[in-house]
Amino acid sequence: MKINEHYLELEDSYLFSTVARKQREYQQAHPEKKVIRLSIGDVTLPLAPVVIKAMEDAVKEMGSKATFRGYGPEQGYDFLREAVQAYYQGHGVSLDVDEIFISDGAKSDLGNLLDIFSLDNTVMIPNPVYPVYQDTNIMLGRQVIYAEAGEENGFLPLPDPAVKADIVYLCSPNNPTGAVYSREQLAAWVDYAKKNDAVILYDAAYECFIRDDETPHSIFEIEGAKECAIEVCSFSKTAGFTGTRCGYTVVPMALVSGGTPLNHLWLRRQTTKFNGVPYIVQRGAAAVFTEEGQMQVREAVDYYRENAKIMVDGMKKMGIWFTGGVNSPYIWMKCPGGRTSWEFFDYLLENAGVVGTPGSGFGRNGEGYFRLTAFGDQAETREAMERMIALLS
Ligand code: MLT
Repeated sequence: MKINEHYLELEDSYLFSTVARKQREYQQAHPEKKVIRLSIGDVTLPLAPVVIKAMEDAVKEMGSKATFRGYGPEQGYDFLREAVQAYYQGHGVSLDVDEIFISDGAKSDLGNLLDIFSLDNTVMIPNPVYPVYQDTNIMLGRQVIYAEAGEENGFLPLPDPAVKADIVYLCSPNNPTGAVYSREQLAAWVDYAKKNDAVILYDAAYECFIRDDETPHSIFEIEGAKECAIEVCSFSKTAGFTGTRCGYTVVPMALVSGGTPLNHLWLRRQTTKFNGVPYIVQRGAAAVFTEEGQMQVREAVDYYRENAKIMVDGMKKMGIWFTGGVNSPYIWMKCPGGRTSWEFFDYLLENAGVVGTPGSGFGRNGEGYFRLTAFGDQAETREAMERMIALLS
């Protein structure tokens, strides 16, 4: 037996596990201290009442022989795929139901999608970015190059025509920087992908935070994107499904390589390796798209948006450079005092009892930066900012 040696090239542990361990150790050593967690982007509000009701009804259906369901379609039930289809239509994007695949979340699909691409593709990943893109490629031994992000480009890298990539990851609103691509910037990436016969893997997990009419919610709002992009989205941040697990991936029929639609490959992959999301969960997810559901989930997102505003105001008060916080649940701040990301992590934990995520965990260009999330409790978020202002002003 031989192991996959590429796993040895990974960091020792996943970023958020390390952050959680450090918080746990600190709390054990200082049980009297109240630690406020603004690190992992995990939601804190409960599921919407309409979602709970739909899931309760579905549980009852599962308890009766006449309405019980066993295996469902691997790509999701039509009632949910049609609801997703209508949601896209609301943003002016027409999709076939067959282009929509229901999944157990964006993270799994972002990793699993790599199954359908040859190992000798060159993968371009923004730096810094959500670590899953990089780690899943390293696990397979793929060559990774970086689209460099920094203060000079507002942490929104644009394509360099001199650099050739086959698979390009984009995330907007971005995790971790909270920066959001404009229509023109996304059009530049679509143009690049088409010229280079590349595919864009577009992570739209935070699209529900976009509230202005100009910013695209989906890459498919850009002309030509259906020929070069796959979009991955999730109910986690939209509707509090981080623990419930449900998402969706759109693979357009127009996305074809060497005469083969990628949609067919993904369907083949999913039908072989995936047995679908539980019926009960899909019923809950479908309720998100009802009129009542949309109102209820919007309220929760507004709550998190208010948290983001509290942090934006705090950053301004402290005079700290930052991006994000508008159309995004993440604040990406420069570490004060020239500290490294992990130095600032320790400093903030020890002196303010606030836990964030070190920017260096998202890539080399994240060194010297720090991420805070707006998914916390509002009173705690306020308190965290007060503590930070007292410490850092
Ligand atoms: C994060 O904190 O970056 C997110 O929680 C990661 C995720 O959604 O998996």
